Amino acid sequence: MEAKFWAAVEAEDWQTLAAELTVEGDQPMSAVLPALASWRKQAREQSTVDGWRYRVTWKPLAEKRSARLTGTWLVVTPATEDTWTDAVAGVLAERGADVTRIVVDTAVDGREELAARLRTALAEAGTDAEAGTGTEAGTDADGAAFAGVVSLLAPAEGTHPEHASLPAGTAAQLALVQALGDAGIGAPLWCLTQGAVSVGGTDRPAAPEQALVWGLGRVAALEHLERWGGLIDLPDTPDEPALTRLVGLLASDGDDDQAAIRATGVFGPRLVRAPLADTSAVRAWRPTGTTLVTGGTGRLGAQVARWLARNGADHLVLASRRGPDAPGAVELEAELTGLGAKVTLAACDVTDRAALAETLAAIPADQPLTAVVHTAAVIDDGVIEGLTPDQVERVLRLKVDATRHLHELTRELDLTAFVLCSHFSATFGAPGQGNQAPGNAFLHAFAEQRRADGLPATTLTFGPWGDGATVDGAVGDRMRRHGINEMAPEPPPPRSSTRWTGTRPR
Ligand SMILES: NC(=O)c1ccc[n+]([C@@H]2O[C@H](COP(=O)([O-])OP(=O)(O)OC[C@H]3O[C@@H](n4cnc5c(N)ncnc54)[C@H](OP(=O)(O)O)[C@@H]3O)[C@@H](O)[C@H]2O)c1
Repeated sequence: MEAKFWAAVEAEDWQTLAAELTVEGDQPMSAVLPALASWRKQAREQSTVDGWRYRVTWKPLAEKRSARLTGTWLVVTPATEDTWTDAVAGVLAERGADVTRIVVDTAVDGREELAARLRTALAEAGTDAEAGTGTEAGTDADGAAFAGVVSLLAPAEGTHPEHASLPAGTAAQLALVQALGDAGIGAPLWCLTQGAVSVGGTDRPAAPEQALVWGLGRVAALEHLERWGGLIDLPDTPDEPALTRLVGLLASDGDDDQAAIRATGVFGPRLVRAPLADTSAVRAWRPTGTTLVTGGTGRLGAQVARWLARNGADHLVLASRRGPDAPGAVELEAELTGLGAKVTLAACDVTDRAALAETLAAIPADQPLTAVVHTAAVIDDGVIEGLTPDQVERVLRLKVDATRHLHELTRELDLTAFVLCSHFSATFGAPGQGNQAPGNAFLHAFAEQRRADGLPATTLTFGPWGDGATVDGAVGDRMRRHGINEMAPEPPPPRSSTRWTGTRPR
């Protein structure tokens, strides 16, 4: 911004300067100086925010076309087979691996059953090795029982038998990570998905639920580095180039432990800086009519509501289970009303589709719903080793079910924004947040799917906010040690301010 400003000064381009400062061209210095001070303040705030902003982009990766595998590879597949399951086992065997296959009935096999079967597979591999059968099947060059584990559980259809909000594939994948540890198998685990991510352009993620496994995997990579392989998203068809690319990744040294195979190559995600270059788009969006903020009385929701009210929102519906009884709700309502917005504190469980529909139906026709911001969440974190299906489902009800309800109930409306609030652990993992990252990774894929379908969608992924929020105690200490600092919701007050009085400063 500064470069643009000084370029205009040097070029004596007063029209550009006047437009930048939003003053008329023939204003006296007494009018220009306050405009300049406010412009400078804004530029400073923007450059702070620019320093905080990133986005994920996918970059083509080098391919290994003639890679071969060695040792015994465990291939874990769901009972309902698809075109990929046989193809993966087949290509691994073709390219040098001894393949041991375990078929999982996701309706029956939980962590304990899986661990028992893995122990059996391990014992058998050990027996083979001791008996010196063939080329020492069951051992790799280091004498470990398995050289690698490939899981095709993520695409399993249906839901967990006792937890309707927990996709069967995610439940089985979680159980496998845990059971491999229980059985003492230290081979690297590769998790395969189909349509969980978008590499950009027209690449529509067909199965956002499978992105849950990407969130889980990014945390597993940090909590179990010693037995982590990676995440690979597959294309629809297991043709020869795709299978060759898969083997190339499995045989790699693990530098790229997240990859998507597409017809045009192999892609890996990269975090890049995303300054607010095109501020006009951001500045142009203003809330009109009604905006629904789920979790609107929570830490993040209240900040979002304040921003909306300050930027001209007519009507805010703040939906949470406790509604007006939530701590601080009444004070927040008064503050927002003072900023000029009409406020409805709705007591609504947004995981309950009928209750959400009722809340939406109560929105006045003369202030129609034009934007949704979904911040509602429950936090129930823990290391992957200790997570239970019950605990995971509690979190996913809000991240997956409520998001789908919001989508379905507003799809026909003319929304200008559909914003999903996410957590940075979904993008690059965070130890201890294996129950936070999956649901948020789902939000990313779901937003990309909506956009591909021509509907508005944005995922805002935050690091910790600086009001003490979710980062108290050990988790907060660890984040700060790793350089992840809290972001202040409001810009700091200026250190000193000079009021322009109309007389020339000495
Ligand atoms: N705060 C941060 O520093 C931060 C940083 C990065 C990302 N995030 C993300 O932002 C989201 C919100 O975090 P937060 O810190 O604002 O959490 P929070 O303060 O605990 O607020 C959560 C809100 O959700 C509401 N809620 C929970 N279950 C609900 C349900 N079934 N139906 C309707 N409302 C429900 C809660 O109100 P009731 O209990 O009354 O229902 C509360 O208003 C999370 O996904 C988090 O990962 C937060």
